[in-house]
Amino acid sequence: MASIDYSERIPNNVSLSENRRLQRALEEWHPKFLDWWMGMGPTGFQEKDVYLRTAVSVDAQGWAQFDYVKMPDYRWGLFLAEPEPGRTVGFGDHLGASAWQDVPGEYRGVLRRLIVTQGDTEPASVEQQRHLGRTCPSLYDLRNLFQINVEEGRHLWAMVYLLDAYFGRDGREESEALLQRRSGDRDKPRILGAFNEKTPDWLSYMMFTYFTDRDGKYQLASLAESGFDPLSRTCRFMLTEEAHHLFVGETGIGRVVQRTCELMRDGKTDDVRRLGGLDLATLQKYINFHYSVSLDLFGSEVSTNAANFYTMGLKGRFEESKKRDDHRLKDATYTVSELTGDRITTREAPALPSLNERLRDDYIADCQRGVDRWNQIVKKHEIDLELRLPHRGFHRAIGLFAEVKVSPDGRVLSEAEWDAKKHEWLPTEADQAYLQSLMLPVTERGRFANWIAPPARGVNGQPIDFEYVRLA
Ligand SMILES: [Fe+2]
Ligand SMILES: [Fe+2]
Repeated sequence: MASIDYSERIPNNVSLSENRRLQRALEEWHPKFLDWWMGMGPTGFQEKDVYLRTAVSVDAQGWAQFDYVKMPDYRWGLFLAEPEPGRTVGFGDHLGASAWQDVPGEYRGVLRRLIVTQGDTEPASVEQQRHLGRTCPSLYDLRNLFQINVEEGRHLWAMVYLLDAYFGRDGREESEALLQRRSGDRDKPRILGAFNEKTPDWLSYMMFTYFTDRDGKYQLASLAESGFDPLSRTCRFMLTEEAHHLFVGETGIGRVVQRTCELMRDGKTDDVRRLGGLDLATLQKYINFHYSVSLDLFGSEVSTNAANFYTMGLKGRFEESKKRDDHRLKDATYTVSELTGDRITTREAPALPSLNERLRDDYIADCQRGVDRWNQIVKKHEIDLELRLPHRGFHRAIGLFAEVKVSPDGRVLSEAEWDAKKHEWLPTEADQAYLQSLMLPVTERGRFANWIAPPARGVNGQPIDFEYVRLA
């Protein structure tokens, strides 16, 4: 078991004390990070004791130590998954070569860009979620929000470690810039679109953690395959934390569905807004929105960048090492969407430039599994309705479908048809206003807002009415 050295100012399992240069760089960055955290992290709760999980080692048992912590005192640090002895590059032109322990000179710029793009999403989501604490539906949910926030902060640390340790002065400049961009800021926005959207309410947050954090899972998983070993190990450990974020999203939406169905059944009505609930039609609109903006994060269907990342051995496929093919894909093909007039068809394309689409397909299948579980809740209440993922071409801003308007069931529409219908498919101002009207804080132990059911169980074996955040 690789334990983490907490005696140092920056807890780590990367022998920081033996690398004075890196230590100095990180010690200089640390107060700037804290400034950012105090200014842009969760507003209003920095002094409160929160029942948080902290990593104390990176093996299966040790990464989950629970105790009350004030968020600014959270032990952010550098935790990499255990090295795999004799690991080799698993794909691309360097297949079979020893995994790189240092940055291959010719890939320096590309690799830095990949790390910065991933790193930028981490503080972005903290910024997007910073006002949610004030309207929490329960102490349980409040605690989960803060757990996610501190872990996204740590993910930023993970990427900054790579930049500072392996990219010299350029890396240090990028580390600074990661603290300077701001989600939604017109002049210095975050790099990716979905991370500049607002997360103004708890439904949006749960949708974000289900759909957008899941993009993170797929990006991290393909970077975990990287031939650059420090990146691979960093991402492998981040994935263990990411799983919790996805859990919060899936169970959160599941609990909203549960509550909505209870209100429909007990009130014998579809109009649960009358009862202070969230109707399934509104939930569907939020699914449509968050799913479509998250699909954009995978990039264009055909991408030479994606092909290059793969050929260079920097970014693999999801579960690359489990796949049984040549791991070079020079002659392979893959099915991608195509627009033929106003029809959506498919064609066989060369596999390498289609890697974004392949990753998106893996993501879509994963998204569908949660939707199926939500539908089981609906079915259990004998309600004849199904939540659905819209067609992949719906409401897209990047790639093939950015040029057309597509309905949720996959028909290409005229602008006029789209304009006439879009309010049925995407959240309207009235929907957002209704949602805001529900966002009243519930902070009594064991109580939950009317629009969401309690969870099946508490955190770390604690009861549901545990004092997850000490507000007094
Ligand atoms: Fe993250
Ligand atoms: Fe996350």
